[in-house]
Amino acid sequence: MNIGIIGAGNIGATAAGLFANAGHRVAISNSRAPESLRDLVAELGPNVETTTVEDAAAFGEVVLVAIPFKDYETRPADQLAGKIVLDAMNYYAQRDGQIDFDDLRSSEVGARRLPRARLVKAFDSMYYETLATAGRKENRDRLVLFIASDDSKA
Ligand SMILES: NC(=O)c1ccc[n+]([C@@H]2O[C@H](COP(=O)([O-])OP(=O)(O)OC[C@H]3O[C@@H](n4cnc5c(N)ncnc54)[C@H](OP(=O)(O)O)[C@@H]3O)[C@@H](O)[C@H]2O)c1
Repeated sequence: MNIGIIGAGNIGATAAGLFANAGHRVAISNSRAPESLRDLVAELGPNVETTTVEDAAAFGEVVLVAIPFKDYETRPADQLAGKIVLDAMNYYAQRDGQIDFDDLRSSEVGARRLPRARLVKAFDSMYYETLATAGRKENRDRLVLFIASDDSKA
Protein backbone atom coordinates (compact mmCIF):
# COMPACT_ATOMS: atom_id res chain seq x y z
CA MET A 1 0.00 0.00 0.00
CA ASN A 2 0.97 3.66 -0.17
CA ILE A 3 2.11 4.98 3.20
CA GLY A 4 2.77 8.66 3.89
CA ILE A 5 5.02 9.68 6.75
CA ILE A 6 5.15 13.09 8.43
CA GLY A 7 8.34 13.34 10.46
CA ALA A 8 11.60 11.74 9.37
CA GLY A 9 13.44 11.30 12.65
CA ASN A 10 13.90 8.30 14.90
CA ILE A 11 10.44 6.82 14.51
CA GLY A 12 9.52 8.13 11.04
CA ALA A 13 12.74 7.04 9.35
CA THR A 14 12.81 3.68 11.14
CA ALA A 15 9.22 2.90 10.20
CA ALA A 16 9.88 4.04 6.62
CA GLY A 17 12.65 1.48 6.26
CA LEU A 18 10.53 -1.31 7.71
CA PHE A 19 7.49 -0.44 5.56
CA ALA A 20 9.68 -0.29 2.44
CA ASN A 21 11.34 -3.61 3.20
CA ALA A 22 7.88 -5.13 3.55
CA GLY A 23 7.07 -3.97 0.00
CA HIS A 24 5.03 -0.85 0.66
CA ARG A 25 5.58 2.45 -1.15
CA VAL A 26 6.52 5.25 1.21
CA ALA A 27 6.51 9.05 0.85
CA ILE A 28 8.31 10.70 3.75
CA SER A 29 8.46 14.36 4.76
CA ASN A 30 9.70 16.81 7.37
CA SER A 31 9.06 20.50 7.95
CA ARG A 32 11.77 21.52 5.46
CA ALA A 33 12.22 21.08 1.73
CA PRO A 34 12.09 17.48 0.42
CA GLU A 35 15.74 17.81 -0.69
CA SER A 36 16.75 17.78 2.98
CA LEU A 37 15.82 14.07 3.06
CA ARG A 38 17.67 13.08 -0.10
CA ASP A 39 20.41 11.15 1.73
CA LEU A 40 17.85 9.33 3.86
CA VAL A 41 15.73 8.15 0.94
CA ALA A 42 18.85 7.08 -0.98
CA GLU A 43 19.73 4.91 2.01
CA LEU A 44 16.21 3.47 2.31
CA GLY A 45 15.97 2.35 -1.31
CA PRO A 46 13.60 2.64 -4.26
CA ASN A 47 10.33 2.17 -2.34
CA VAL A 48 10.88 5.44 -0.46
CA GLU A 49 10.55 8.94 -1.89
CA THR A 50 10.82 12.34 -0.26
CA THR A 51 8.05 14.87 -0.52
CA THR A 52 6.27 17.69 1.29
CA VAL A 53 4.07 17.22 4.36
CA GLU A 54 0.92 17.95 2.33
CA ASP A 55 1.90 15.54 -0.45
CA ALA A 56 2.85 12.79 2.01
CA ALA A 57 -0.60 13.13 3.56
CA ALA A 58 -2.27 13.04 0.16
CA PHE A 59 -0.13 10.08 -0.99
CA GLY A 60 -0.83 7.71 1.89
CA GLU A 61 -3.76 5.38 2.27
CA VAL A 62 -2.26 5.29 5.75
CA VAL A 63 -0.27 8.24 7.13
CA LEU A 64 2.11 7.94 10.05
CA VAL A 65 2.61 11.15 12.05
CA ALA A 66 5.88 11.10 14.01
CA ILE A 67 6.66 14.69 14.95
CA PRO A 68 7.13 16.41 18.32
CA PHE A 69 3.75 16.90 19.98
CA LYS A 70 4.19 20.67 20.19
CA ASP A 71 3.83 20.74 16.38
CA TYR A 72 0.51 18.85 16.27
CA GLU A 73 -1.36 21.84 14.90
CA THR A 74 0.78 21.85 11.74
CA ARG A 75 -0.65 18.53 10.49
CA PRO A 76 -2.57 19.15 7.25
CA ALA A 77 -6.18 18.50 8.25
CA ASP A 78 -7.64 18.76 4.75
CA GLN A 79 -5.25 16.25 3.17
CA LEU A 80 -5.71 13.87 6.12
CA ALA A 81 -9.53 13.88 5.91
CA GLY A 82 -10.74 10.31 5.55
CA LYS A 83 -7.24 8.88 5.90
CA ILE A 84 -6.13 6.33 8.46
CA VAL A 85 -3.68 8.37 10.53
CA LEU A 86 -1.24 6.56 12.80
CA ASP A 87 -0.42 8.92 15.65
CA ALA A 88 2.96 8.13 17.22
CA MET A 89 3.23 11.38 19.14
CA ASN A 90 3.83 11.54 22.86
CA TYR A 91 3.72 14.68 24.96
CA TYR A 92 6.77 15.53 27.06
CA ALA A 93 6.56 18.87 28.86
CA GLN A 94 10.35 19.24 29.02
CA ARG A 95 10.56 18.93 25.22
CA ASP A 96 7.20 20.29 24.07
CA GLY A 97 6.70 23.04 26.66
CA GLN A 98 3.78 23.33 29.04
CA ILE A 99 0.48 22.86 27.21
CA ASP A 100 -2.88 23.24 28.96
CA PHE A 101 -5.01 20.19 28.14
CA ASP A 102 -7.86 20.98 30.54
CA ASP A 103 -9.11 17.53 31.48
CA LEU A 104 -8.20 15.91 28.16
CA ARG A 105 -5.36 13.59 27.18
CA SER A 106 -2.80 14.83 24.68
CA SER A 107 -4.15 12.36 22.10
CA GLU A 108 -7.65 13.77 22.53
CA VAL A 109 -6.36 17.31 22.06
CA GLY A 110 -4.52 16.18 18.92
CA ALA A 111 -7.61 14.37 17.64
CA ARG A 112 -9.70 17.53 17.84
CA ARG A 113 -7.48 19.12 15.19
CA LEU A 114 -8.14 16.21 12.79
CA PRO A 115 -11.87 15.62 13.15
CA ARG A 116 -12.21 13.97 9.74
CA ALA A 117 -9.24 11.61 10.02
CA ARG A 118 -9.51 7.99 11.14
CA LEU A 119 -7.06 8.18 14.01
CA VAL A 120 -5.17 5.22 15.39
CA LYS A 121 -2.68 5.57 18.21
CA ALA A 122 0.32 3.46 17.20
CA PHE A 123 4.09 3.25 17.64
CA ASP A 124 3.91 5.62 20.64
CA SER A 125 4.92 2.92 23.12
CA MET A 126 7.73 1.49 20.97
CA TYR A 127 11.32 2.71 21.35
CA TYR A 128 12.73 3.31 17.90
CA GLU A 129 15.89 1.25 18.39
CA THR A 130 13.77 -1.69 19.52
CA LEU A 131 11.58 -1.21 16.47
CA ALA A 132 14.65 -1.10 14.25
CA THR A 133 16.42 -4.14 15.61
CA ALA A 134 14.10 -6.48 17.48
CA GLY A 135 11.30 -7.24 15.02
CA ARG A 136 11.22 -10.78 13.71
CA LYS A 137 9.11 -12.59 11.18
CA GLU A 138 9.49 -15.92 12.98
CA ASN A 139 6.95 -16.78 15.64
CA ARG A 140 9.38 -16.74 18.56
CA ASP A 141 10.11 -13.55 20.48
CA ARG A 142 8.07 -11.30 18.24
CA LEU A 143 7.50 -7.67 19.19
CA VAL A 144 4.06 -6.48 20.27
CA LEU A 145 2.92 -3.15 18.84
CA PHE A 146 -0.03 -1.80 20.81
CA ILE A 147 -2.66 0.15 18.87
CA ALA A 148 -5.81 1.95 20.00
CA SER A 149 -8.61 3.64 18.10
CA ASP A 150 -12.27 4.56 18.31
CA ASP A 151 -12.50 3.35 14.69
CA SER A 152 -12.14 -0.43 14.80
CA LYS A 153 -12.08 -0.78 10.99
CA ALA A 154 -9.22 1.69 10.73
N1 LIG B 1 12.06 8.14 19.66
C1 LIG B 1 11.24 7.14 20.00
O1 LIG B 1 11.70 6.00 20.27
C2 LIG B 1 9.75 7.37 20.06
C3 LIG B 1 8.95 6.28 20.39
C4 LIG B 1 7.57 6.44 20.39
C5 LIG B 1 7.01 7.67 20.09
N2 LIG B 1 7.82 8.72 19.81
C6 LIG B 1 7.16 10.00 19.51
O2 LIG B 1 7.20 10.16 18.10
C7 LIG B 1 7.40 11.53 17.79
C8 LIG B 1 8.70 11.67 17.00
O3 LIG B 1 9.77 11.23 17.82
P1 LIG B 1 11.21 11.03 17.20
O4 LIG B 1 12.06 10.49 18.28
O5 LIG B 1 11.11 10.32 15.89
O6 LIG B 1 11.62 12.57 16.97
P2 LIG B 1 12.83 13.17 16.10
O7 LIG B 1 13.88 12.13 15.92
O8 LIG B 1 13.17 14.46 16.74
O9 LIG B 1 12.17 13.42 14.68
C9 LIG B 1 11.15 14.36 14.48
C10 LIG B 1 10.97 14.53 13.00
O10 LIG B 1 9.84 15.37 12.78
C11 LIG B 1 10.22 16.42 11.87
N3 LIG B 1 9.37 17.56 12.17
C12 LIG B 1 9.41 18.40 13.22
N4 LIG B 1 8.40 19.27 13.16
C13 LIG B 1 7.70 18.99 12.04
C14 LIG B 1 6.54 19.52 11.43
N5 LIG B 1 5.87 20.55 11.98
N6 LIG B 1 6.11 18.97 10.28
C15 LIG B 1 6.77 17.93 9.72
N7 LIG B 1 7.87 17.36 10.25
C16 LIG B 1 8.32 17.88 11.41
C17 LIG B 1 11.69 16.63 12.15
O11 LIG B 1 12.38 17.21 11.06
P3 LIG B 1 12.54 18.77 10.88
O12 LIG B 1 12.66 19.38 12.25
O13 LIG B 1 13.75 18.90 10.04
O14 LIG B 1 11.30 19.19 10.18
C18 LIG B 1 12.16 15.18 12.31
O15 LIG B 1 12.34 14.58 11.07
C19 LIG B 1 7.43 12.29 19.12
O16 LIG B 1 6.15 12.81 19.40
C20 LIG B 1 7.81 11.21 20.12
O17 LIG B 1 7.35 11.49 21.41
C21 LIG B 1 9.17 8.60 19.78
